[in-house]
Amino acid sequence: MEIIHISAECYPAAKVGGLADVVGALPKYQNKIGHIAKVVVPAYDTKFIRESEFEVAYDAWSNYGNNHFRYRILKEKTNKLGFDLYLVHIQGLTDRPNVYGYGDDTERFVAFQIATLDWIAQWEHQPDVIHCHDHHTGLIPFMVANCLKYQIISKVPTVLTIHNAQYQGQFGWDKLYYLPAFDLWKGGLLGWEDSINPLAAAIKCAWRVTTVSPSYLDEMMDNARGLESLLRQERWKSVGILNGIDSEVWNPETDPMLGKSYNLKTVETGKAANKKALCDVFQLDSSKPLFTFIGRLVDEKGADLLPDIFYTALQQHGDSINVLVLGSGDSWVEGRLNQLKDIYGGKYNAYIGYNEQVSHEIYAGADFLLMPSRVEPCGLNQLYALRYGTVPIVRRVGGLKDTVIDIGDGGFGICHDQTSIWDVTHAINRAVELYNDKKAFKTVRKTMMKIDHSWDKAATNYIELYQILK
Ligand code: ADP
Ligand code: GLC
Repeated sequence: MEIIHISAECYPAAKVGGLADVVGALPKYQNKIGHIAKVVVPAYDTKFIRESEFEVAYDAWSNYGNNHFRYRILKEKTNKLGFDLYLVHIQGLTDRPNVYGYGDDTERFVAFQIATLDWIAQWEHQPDVIHCHDHHTGLIPFMVANCLKYQIISKVPTVLTIHNAQYQGQFGWDKLYYLPAFDLWKGGLLGWEDSINPLAAAIKCAWRVTTVSPSYLDEMMDNARGLESLLRQERWKSVGILNGIDSEVWNPETDPMLGKSYNLKTVETGKAANKKALCDVFQLDSSKPLFTFIGRLVDEKGADLLPDIFYTALQQHGDSINVLVLGSGDSWVEGRLNQLKDIYGGKYNAYIGYNEQVSHEIYAGADFLLMPSRVEPCGLNQLYALRYGTVPIVRRVGGLKDTVIDIGDGGFGICHDQTSIWDVTHAINRAVELYNDKKAFKTVRKTMMKIDHSWDKAATNYIELYQILK
């Protein structure tokens, strides 16, 4: 089958979070099992685009609203990614350093979706499936089915994967004219409450809807920022497929970003060497357990509680634990996390910013990784932690619930029920006990590292889903 994944992010071309990791890995695994999976993302202005590695595959004009724009499709030609990657370059719209966060994001992503469909509509053949990821590509199922200009591909099945229903990309009806011509009687398919809602439109129009874990599918029925009733109505065509990880990129035995590589047999010495190096850089004490957090500093991740959680834990455990944070997001959380450095220097540190290299070093060097998320559709951090022998401490929610089993139930992680200071500090206390029981700690590490979370299984699950649509 030929599958076209369309997304705002794809590792290594552009990454803000887990969406990039999924779109940079799932297609590779679909190709491995004999399909042709391609990826289309906007061409941002990043170091990733080196002219020598790209060729112009298509060059044309299109328009959204009253704007006539020229777009170019750049094809990555090195074949190093394991899938064909196409970047859509629209001067003045896609070519910015950041993926999101501009006042005209609506225009940027509408133009991206239109250019992508214009390009696909003039292919000599048709793909078997168009697979859209999140709201940035949410208008595609509607446009494929209803816009006159895409009539030639109107029978191509579309699939939507919801990575996070908290973000829906709403914009006002005054911008309806951005879209190519369609039968106005169909306009209602675009709306939800008082605005055009690309995520809602995709839920209504896609042939199938998936989300990234079975538990999140259930949770969305009661908690999806206003889309609950729509999701319940469309549940018949929805399925939760647990994400995998790219076990070639995330492999402590071959990871080029680590000072010392290790595997199941050498995990104790390997992790100790990485921990020592990490603690030296961040002025921490490698003889004590190292608790970490990596991620977007937003409420959804429970990040607003982190300063108080760390304050409580560091007060309680005195000199016997270390904490290291890597993240960026809400500025007041960043500020408070920075402040803690002054109080707890030598046992606490924070790197405020985004750094892929440091993230790998932390997965390898840490003992515990905290994820007190309020909402977690899947979560990849805990899967990377498991692969690197770092014990996840997670709230029982979404994909965390589906992937981490508590040590008390014969598992390999520490789970808690609420995103609260009390629950997380209690979990930290349990972690300290585990750390002090050297034999049990070693066993847990080995158990985690043996789990296979690679994309092999889920890549097949998606293919089975597409096959129903043929
Ligand atoms: P989400 O997509 O909701 O942010 P996930 O757990 O699915 O959460 O994926 C987060 C991804 O982003 C992981 O690959 C994680 O390592 C990475 N990440 C998050 N914050 C940072 C950061 N500050 N520096 C480096 N990597 C980060
Ligand atoms: C979203 C979710 C996260 C998930 C990721 C990849 O960003 O917040 O839980 O792991 O998408 O599907």
